Amino acid sequence: MIKSVDLKDIDRAKLAAAAIAVEYIKDGMNVGLGTGSTAAWMIKCLANKIYKEGISIKAVPTSNQTAKLALEYQIQTTTLDEVKFLDITIDGTDECDKNYNLIKGGGAALLHEKIVAAASNKVIIVADQMKYVDSLGSFPLPVELIKFGSSSSKECIVSILNKLGYKNYQINQRMNNNFALKTDEGNFILDLELTKILEPLLLSRELNLVPGVVENGLFINSCDLLILGEKGGKVSVHEPSRNMVSSRNVDLDQMFHEFKY
Ligand code: 5RP
Repeated sequence: MIKSVDLKDIDRAKLAAAAIAVEYIKDGMNVGLGTGSTAAWMIKCLANKIYKEGISIKAVPTSNQTAKLALEYQIQTTTLDEVKFLDITIDGTDECDKNYNLIKGGGAALLHEKIVAAASNKVIIVADQMKYVDSLGSFPLPVELIKFGSSSSKECIVSILNKLGYKNYQINQRMNNNFALKTDEGNFILDLELTKILEPLLLSRELNLVPGVVENGLFINSCDLLILGEKGGKVSVHEPSRNMVSSRNVDLDQMFHEFKY
């Protein structure tokens, strides 16, 4: 049996946040499942919750990778087209600033993640506390664009960045084993190394006006609850709308002891 001490510190932190997040999932809910390593811990916690409490939910995965995990853990899935709206979505993030704006897309699933978030009544973001930053931009901003004319779209992005006063930035095509990475929708991703994003809403709007750009990784005003974990099991729960932060503790060893999966 796994013990929590066998995990890396970062995974202990992600797991602690994930454990609290799944408490918000109730019987009969339609649930969006995020993508990435923190979301993977959340899916493991959810599978154990379903087993322990006998609840029934329908899940909408945000990527092929997450769909595979859900299948592995016997979580019933459906499509967004089938259910149209979701009660709750739990997803990870690459960065979250003090206004609860996010950079997402490190796992290349930003397009589905944004559509799923927009269809959700409540979006819960789970992360290790290192992801909570003063301002966005240390993490490169992913931009998803269609393959056709992507070099021209990139030049339009350069013009926008120059117009908005960004300097010394870099734009990198995301690669996968020496080939341009393709998202689940068959699109490319450009990673914008900006260092610091000053006006996330403005940048997001401008980027999405570029022909060929499908979506960018700035998630503005979409986080309803931020749950941050620490390696020792301490978890802080941020409620942006009430400007409230509360603290909880998760006994990771006890949790593992009770896990079936
Ligand atoms: C995937 C995402 C992820 O939520 C983000 O990259 C965080 O991943 P991780 O939990 O592995 O750090 O946006 O597109």
